[in-house]
Amino acid sequence: MIRALKKWLIGYKEEARQTEEGRERIASLQKAPLPRHVAIIMDGNGRWAKKRGLPRVAGHRAGMKTVRRITRAADDLGIEALTLYSFSTENWKRPKDEVNYLMGLPEEFLRTDLDELVSRNIRVRMLGEEEGLPEHTLDAIRKFKEATKENTGMILSFALNYGSRAEIIHAIERIIDDMKSGKLSKDVLDESLIGQYLYTADLPDPDLMIRTSGEVRISNFMLWQLAYSELWFTDVQWPDFSKEMFYQAIEDFQRRSRRYGAV
Ligand code: IPE
Ligand code: IPE
Ligand code: MG
Repeated sequence: MIRALKKWLIGYKEEARQTEEGRERIASLQKAPLPRHVAIIMDGNGRWAKKRGLPRVAGHRAGMKTVRRITRAADDLGIEALTLYSFSTENWKRPKDEVNYLMGLPEEFLRTDLDELVSRNIRVRMLGEEEGLPEHTLDAIRKFKEATKENTGMILSFALNYGSRAEIIHAIERIIDDMKSGKLSKDVLDESLIGQYLYTADLPDPDLMIRTSGEVRISNFMLWQLAYSELWFTDVQWPDFSKEMFYQAIEDFQRRSRRYGAV
């Protein structure tokens, strides 16, 4: 009962937030085909904080707000899948305090955002290697997955302890195992089979990949899946990335001509 009331209240507040102008903007973006899957390298939290004389973790805190903002924007637009690169297999090289802080964010996000995600019918997933993550982080992820598993709306994936090369190695290992056990025969090896063994098996490849912070690189993110994605870069740091900038990326995407090697 209380939960239902809470849900209603969230829905009501969200609705009120959508101005007439906002609704028109969304409707106009929806006139052209939208990317089905948007993947984002959320970069620049540390520099955002440094510029303000704050510790790096303050940047991660501010970045959480952007996660919420962009999740809402993507969901309101009707994007099918949003993937957020949250922690790479290389990010373990960072100072212990910063890593610990980042590992606490899923729990915090669970406390603050689960109700809204449920009310939006969003499914939450994790892409990455569970091994190596602290138990409390995994526990928050499991709770997210469990609470949203029946949802049928946008798929929100957090790439956590994610590295594309590790993902590919992992896929090859499992393919070899399945070939050895006779579950797979050698002649079935093709692009779609490899895709089925990646963390992203049930997601379409990203149509659009956004990276903030001015770095123009992939940093071990979805090397296989980005083969034909449209790439979009901005100098803006992730905490400052606004809904309007997200819309701009979508509009630019809609103006591009995707040829996949054809003419
Ligand atoms: C992105 O911001 C968040 C994570 C990688 C976890 P950074 O922490 O990389 O910020 P910069 O790139 O150092 O500014
Ligand atoms: C990529 O950002 C990883 C995430 C956004 C989680 P990094 O800040 O780790 O990438 P590099 O070190 O600049 O390549
Ligand atoms: Mg960075």
